Amino acid sequence: MPPKKKAAPAPQPPIEITPPATGLGFLSSALNAPVSPSEAALRPLSFADFAGQPKSVERLQVMVGAAKRRGEALNHVLLSGPPGLGKTTLAFILGAELGRNVRVTSGPVLEKASDLAGLLTNLEEGDILFIDEIHRTPKTVEEYLYSAMEDFRLDIMIDQGPNARSVRLSLPRFTLIGATTRAGLLTAPLRSRFTLQTRLDYYDTDTLCGIVTRSCKLLEVPIEPSGAREIAARSRGTPRIANNLIHFVRDYAQERANGRITKPVAAAALELLEIDARGLDEMDKRVLRIMADNYRGGPVGIGTIAIAVGEEAETLEEVHEPFLIQEGYIQRTPQGRALTAKGYEAIGQLPPSGTQATLL
Ligand SMILES: Nc1ncnc2c1ncn2[C@@H]1O[C@H](COP(=O)(O)OP(=O)(O)O)[C@@H](O)[C@H]1O
Ligand SMILES: [Mg+2]
Repeated sequence: MPPKKKAAPAPQPPIEITPPATGLGFLSSALNAPVSPSEAALRPLSFADFAGQPKSVERLQVMVGAAKRRGEALNHVLLSGPPGLGKTTLAFILGAELGRNVRVTSGPVLEKASDLAGLLTNLEEGDILFIDEIHRTPKTVEEYLYSAMEDFRLDIMIDQGPNARSVRLSLPRFTLIGATTRAGLLTAPLRSRFTLQTRLDYYDTDTLCGIVTRSCKLLEVPIEPSGAREIAARSRGTPRIANNLIHFVRDYAQERANGRITKPVAAAALELLEIDARGLDEMDKRVLRIMADNYRGGPVGIGTIAIAVGEEAETLEEVHEPFLIQEGYIQRTPQGRALTAKGYEAIGQLPPSGTQATLL
C-alpha cells in the first residue's frame, strides 16, 4: 500500500467527549476540561517530540516500521492509563507517522450499531479509527466491533419482523486504536482482538521537566530550569496538568513578580492553587484525611470514600486513586483501601500505633 497522495481531508474537529468536572480543585477540572486550543498547540506531533514512555513508544515504533515496510494497515492497538498521560496524542502521532487519517470518536457516543457502521464505512484503507473511553462502548455496539476488527466486515440487521435480514458490509482494512482509563473493564473478547495492549505510566519529574521546558519555549514564557522543575514536581506525573499549571504560573509571575518563572515564583503560585510540593490537590488530601479521621486508616471501600468526600467513585478510581497508589499513599487490599504511613505523613498526621498502617 503506497503512501497516499491526495488532497488534505476536510478538517474534522476531534470530538473530545469529557465528563463534566465534578471534582474539587484545580487538578480534577484540568483533567476533565475539553482540549483547549493552547493545549492542542502543545501536543507533540511526532515520536521525536513525545517525551518518556520508552516501552510503549518502542513497541509502537516497531509496529509502525513493520506496517510501513509491508505496506499494510497497522494492527489494532489498545492504549491504557490515567487521564492526561498522552493516549490521544499517541493516536495522532501514529496517524502522522503512517501518513493516514485519524477519525475520532468515543465509546459512549456509539449508541447504535449504525453509528459504528457510519464511521467504519467512511474509512479509507489504512485509516485509523480512534475510540476514546472504549470501555464505555455499549455492549450491543461492541459486538459489532469483533467482526469489524477481525474480518473487516460488519453484519448488520436491517428492517424488523418478517422483513428482517442481515446485510454484510465489507470494510477497508483499518486500524482501531482504543484508549481507556480502565483497561480492567474491557471484556475479554474485545481485549483479545488488540495485537498490542500498552499502558502509559505516570511521568517522572525529569521527563516532565523537559515537557514543561518545551511548552514554555513554544508559549514564549520565560522560565528558569529550577522553576520548570518546581512545576514538574507538582504536576502529579501528568503532562496535561503540567501544561495547565504553566498558564497560571505565568499569570502569577506577571502579576506578582517580574514575569520570569523562578522556583520561588512557581512554588508560591502553586501554593495559591493548593497544590502541595508532592503534587497532591485538595481532593487527594480530602480522601487521605477522611480515611484517617473517619475510618482509622481503613480498609474502607471506594464507594464509602466517594460518598464521604462528595465525589463520584468513578472519578476517584480513574483520577485520584492510581496516583495515590503509585506514590504509596494508599494501598489496595481485598477489604478495601488502606492508608499507609506515607499517607498519614502527607496530611501531617502520625499513623496510629499498633495499626496496620505502621507496618506498611
Ligand atoms: N509524552 C509527552 N510529551 C509531551 N507532551 C505530552 C506528552 N504526553 C502528553 N502530553 C501533553 O499532554 C496533553 C494531554 O495528553 P493527551 O494525549 O490528551 O492525554 P490522554 O489522551 O491520555 O488523556 C497533550 O495535549 C500534550 O500536550
Ligand atoms: Mg484523551
